[in-house]
Amino acid sequence: MSVVVLVSGRGSNMQALLDAGIPVSAVISNRAGARALEIAAKRGIATAVVEHRSFPTREAFDAALAAEVERYQPRLVVLAGFMRILGAAFVARFAGRMMNIHPSLLPAFPGLDTHERALAAGVKVHGCTVHFVTADLDHGPIVVQAVVPVLPGDDPDRLAARVLAQEHIVFARAVNWFLEDRLVIEKGRVSVKGNDAQLVIADLP
Ligand code: GRF
Repeated sequence: MSVVVLVSGRGSNMQALLDAGIPVSAVISNRAGARALEIAAKRGIATAVVEHRSFPTREAFDAALAAEVERYQPRLVVLAGFMRILGAAFVARFAGRMMNIHPSLLPAFPGLDTHERALAAGVKVHGCTVHFVTADLDHGPIVVQAVVPVLPGDDPDRLAARVLAQEHIVFARAVNWFLEDRLVIEKGRVSVKGNDAQLVIADLP
Protein backbone atom coordinates (compact mmCIF):
# COMPACT_ATOMS: atom_id res chain seq x y z
CA MET A 1 0.00 0.00 0.00
CA SER A 2 1.80 3.07 -1.18
CA VAL A 3 1.43 6.45 -2.78
CA VAL A 4 0.06 7.56 -6.15
CA VAL A 5 1.27 10.98 -7.28
CA LEU A 6 -0.80 13.17 -9.61
CA VAL A 7 1.14 15.69 -11.68
CA SER A 8 0.70 18.10 -14.57
CA GLY A 9 4.14 19.50 -15.33
CA ARG A 10 7.70 19.93 -14.18
CA GLY A 11 7.64 17.39 -11.38
CA SER A 12 10.16 18.82 -8.95
CA ASN A 13 7.95 18.05 -5.95
CA MET A 14 7.39 14.52 -7.19
CA GLN A 15 11.13 14.16 -7.57
CA ALA A 16 11.67 15.41 -4.03
CA LEU A 17 9.28 12.73 -2.77
CA LEU A 18 11.18 10.06 -4.67
CA ASP A 19 14.50 11.39 -3.39
CA ALA A 20 13.15 11.19 0.15
CA GLY A 21 12.38 7.50 -0.37
CA ILE A 22 8.58 7.79 -0.41
CA PRO A 23 7.16 4.52 -1.80
CA VAL A 24 5.52 5.81 -4.99
CA SER A 25 3.75 3.12 -6.99
CA ALA A 26 2.60 5.31 -9.88
CA VAL A 27 2.73 8.81 -11.29
CA ILE A 28 -0.33 9.91 -13.24
CA SER A 29 -0.54 13.07 -15.35
CA ASN A 30 -3.40 14.87 -17.04
CA ARG A 31 -0.89 16.11 -19.65
CA ALA A 32 0.97 13.77 -21.96
CA GLY A 33 4.09 15.91 -22.21
CA ALA A 34 4.65 16.44 -18.50
CA ARG A 35 8.34 16.33 -17.59
CA ALA A 36 7.36 14.61 -14.35
CA LEU A 37 6.46 11.51 -16.37
CA GLU A 38 9.95 11.33 -17.87
CA ILE A 39 11.61 11.64 -14.48
CA ALA A 40 9.38 8.94 -13.01
CA ALA A 41 9.81 6.57 -15.94
CA LYS A 42 13.60 6.91 -15.74
CA ARG A 43 13.36 5.75 -12.17
CA GLY A 44 11.32 2.73 -13.17
CA ILE A 45 8.06 3.99 -11.71
CA ALA A 46 4.79 3.19 -13.45
CA THR A 47 3.34 6.16 -15.29
CA ALA A 48 -0.01 6.86 -16.88
CA VAL A 49 -1.71 9.71 -18.69
CA VAL A 50 -5.39 10.51 -18.28
CA GLU A 51 -5.80 13.48 -20.53
CA HIS A 52 -8.57 15.79 -19.38
CA ARG A 53 -9.15 17.03 -22.93
CA SER A 54 -10.27 13.56 -24.02
CA PHE A 55 -13.33 13.67 -21.78
CA PRO A 56 -16.54 15.58 -22.42
CA THR A 57 -17.14 16.53 -18.80
CA ARG A 58 -15.22 17.03 -15.58
CA GLU A 59 -17.17 14.13 -14.08
CA ALA A 60 -16.09 11.79 -16.88
CA PHE A 61 -12.46 12.84 -16.50
CA ASP A 62 -12.61 12.44 -12.72
CA ALA A 63 -14.13 8.96 -13.06
CA ALA A 64 -11.41 7.83 -15.47
CA LEU A 65 -8.72 9.32 -13.24
CA ALA A 66 -10.18 7.63 -10.16
CA ALA A 67 -10.22 4.28 -11.96
CA GLU A 68 -6.56 4.69 -12.92
CA VAL A 69 -5.63 5.67 -9.37
CA GLU A 70 -7.55 2.72 -7.89
CA ARG A 71 -5.53 0.29 -9.99
CA TYR A 72 -2.68 0.90 -7.56
CA GLN A 73 -4.79 0.70 -4.37
CA PRO A 74 -2.88 3.61 -2.84
CA ARG A 75 -2.90 4.48 0.82
CA LEU A 76 -2.39 8.10 -0.08
CA VAL A 77 -2.98 10.20 -3.20
CA VAL A 78 -0.62 13.13 -3.53
CA LEU A 79 -1.22 16.17 -5.74
CA ALA A 80 2.22 17.45 -6.71
CA GLY A 81 1.66 20.33 -9.10
CA PHE A 82 -1.56 18.78 -10.39
CA MET A 83 -3.33 21.64 -12.14
CA ARG A 84 -6.89 20.35 -12.56
CA ILE A 85 -9.68 21.02 -10.11
CA LEU A 86 -11.12 17.72 -8.90
CA GLY A 87 -14.86 17.39 -8.46
CA ALA A 88 -16.72 16.60 -5.26
CA ALA A 89 -17.14 12.89 -6.03
CA PHE A 90 -13.40 12.38 -6.59
CA VAL A 91 -12.56 14.34 -3.45
CA ALA A 92 -15.09 12.37 -1.39
CA ARG A 93 -13.73 9.07 -2.65
CA PHE A 94 -10.24 9.89 -1.38
CA ALA A 95 -11.29 11.94 1.65
CA GLY A 96 -8.70 11.91 4.41
CA ARG A 97 -6.14 10.27 2.14
CA MET A 98 -5.37 12.94 -0.43
CA MET A 99 -2.85 15.75 0.08
CA ASN A 100 -1.90 18.80 -1.95
CA ILE A 101 0.99 21.22 -1.85
CA HIS A 102 0.15 24.84 -2.46
CA PRO A 103 2.68 27.66 -2.94
CA SER A 104 1.34 30.11 -0.35
CA LEU A 105 0.62 30.32 3.33
CA LEU A 106 -3.01 29.28 3.17
CA PRO A 107 -5.62 30.56 3.71
CA ALA A 108 -3.84 33.49 2.04
CA PHE A 109 -3.61 33.36 -1.75
CA PRO A 110 -5.51 30.25 -2.79
CA GLY A 111 -5.62 29.67 -6.56
CA LEU A 112 -3.05 30.69 -9.16
CA ASP A 113 -0.22 33.25 -9.40
CA THR A 114 0.44 33.15 -5.69
CA HIS A 115 3.91 34.71 -5.86
CA GLU A 116 2.77 37.64 -7.98
CA ARG A 117 -0.14 38.21 -5.64
CA ALA A 118 2.03 37.98 -2.52
CA LEU A 119 4.40 40.61 -3.95
CA ALA A 120 1.51 42.84 -4.98
CA ALA A 121 0.05 42.60 -1.48
CA GLY A 122 3.36 43.61 0.08
CA VAL A 123 3.43 40.73 2.54
CA LYS A 124 6.73 40.27 4.34
CA VAL A 125 6.44 36.51 4.71
CA HIS A 126 5.30 33.96 2.18
CA GLY A 127 5.63 30.21 1.91
CA CYS A 128 3.88 26.96 1.18
CA THR A 129 1.28 24.70 2.69
CA VAL A 130 0.68 20.96 2.60
CA HIS A 131 -2.96 20.24 3.30
CA PHE A 132 -5.56 17.51 3.02
CA VAL A 133 -7.79 18.03 0.02
CA THR A 134 -11.42 18.92 0.56
CA ALA A 135 -14.07 20.03 -1.91
CA ASP A 136 -13.14 23.64 -1.11
CA LEU A 137 -10.24 24.52 -3.47
CA ASP A 138 -6.91 25.08 -1.68
CA HIS A 139 -8.52 24.78 1.72
CA GLY A 140 -8.66 21.71 3.88
CA PRO A 141 -6.82 20.73 7.06
CA ILE A 142 -3.26 22.08 7.15
CA VAL A 143 -0.54 19.49 7.79
CA VAL A 144 2.58 21.65 7.62
CA GLN A 145 3.66 25.09 6.47
CA ALA A 146 7.02 26.58 5.60
CA VAL A 147 7.65 30.29 5.88
CA VAL A 148 10.14 32.27 3.81
CA PRO A 149 10.95 35.98 3.91
CA VAL A 150 9.90 38.29 1.10
CA LEU A 151 13.02 40.33 0.36
CA PRO A 152 13.55 43.72 -1.22
CA GLY A 153 14.11 43.32 -4.95
CA ASP A 154 12.19 40.02 -5.16
CA ASP A 155 10.41 39.22 -8.37
CA PRO A 156 7.93 36.34 -8.74
CA ASP A 157 10.60 33.94 -10.03
CA ARG A 158 13.03 34.63 -7.23
CA LEU A 159 10.31 34.32 -4.63
CA ALA A 160 8.96 31.15 -6.25
CA ALA A 161 12.41 29.53 -6.13
CA ARG A 162 12.76 30.37 -2.44
CA VAL A 163 9.35 28.84 -1.72
CA LEU A 164 9.98 25.80 -3.91
CA ALA A 165 13.10 24.86 -1.96
CA GLN A 166 10.90 24.64 1.13
CA GLU A 167 8.13 22.75 -0.70
CA HIS A 168 10.63 20.01 -1.40
CA ILE A 169 11.39 19.69 2.30
CA VAL A 170 7.94 19.81 3.86
CA PHE A 171 6.04 17.69 1.34
CA ALA A 172 8.07 14.56 2.05
CA ARG A 173 7.82 15.24 5.75
CA ALA A 174 4.01 15.42 5.57
CA VAL A 175 3.74 12.29 3.44
CA ASN A 176 6.00 10.38 5.81
CA TRP A 177 3.87 11.39 8.78
CA PHE A 178 0.80 10.09 6.97
CA LEU A 179 2.45 6.79 6.08
CA GLU A 180 3.61 6.41 9.67
CA ASP A 181 -0.03 6.87 10.79
CA ARG A 182 0.92 9.88 12.85
CA LEU A 183 -1.56 12.47 11.56
CA VAL A 184 -4.71 13.18 13.53
CA ILE A 185 -7.42 15.40 12.05
CA GLU A 186 -9.77 16.87 14.62
CA LYS A 187 -12.28 19.64 13.93
CA GLY A 188 -10.43 20.51 10.74
CA ARG A 189 -7.08 20.81 12.48
CA VAL A 190 -4.18 18.46 12.04
CA SER A 191 -1.75 17.41 14.73
CA VAL A 192 1.18 15.02 14.57
CA LYS A 193 1.54 12.26 17.13
CA GLY A 194 4.95 12.76 18.72
CA ASN A 195 4.69 16.51 18.19
CA ASP A 196 7.06 17.03 15.28
CA ALA A 197 7.21 20.64 14.15
CA GLN A 198 4.44 21.49 11.67
CA LEU A 199 6.20 24.73 10.83
CA VAL A 200 9.49 25.36 9.08
CA ILE A 201 10.95 28.86 9.07
CA ALA A 202 13.56 29.41 6.41
CA ASP A 203 16.63 31.35 7.47
CA LEU A 204 17.04 34.96 6.43
CA PRO A 205 19.87 35.20 3.92
C1 GRF B 1 4.59 23.95 -7.10
O1 GRF B 1 4.93 25.26 -6.78
C2 GRF B 1 3.36 23.52 -6.35
O2 GRF B 1 3.27 24.06 -5.08
C3 GRF B 1 2.25 24.05 -7.22
O3 GRF B 1 2.70 23.86 -8.54
C4 GRF B 1 4.12 23.83 -8.55
C5 GRF B 1 4.51 22.52 -9.15
O4 GRF B 1 5.89 22.39 -9.34
N1 GRF B 1 0.99 23.42 -6.90
P1 GRF B 1 6.51 20.97 -9.64
O5 GRF B 1 5.77 20.37 -10.82
O6 GRF B 1 6.38 20.12 -8.41
O7 GRF B 1 7.94 21.24 -9.98
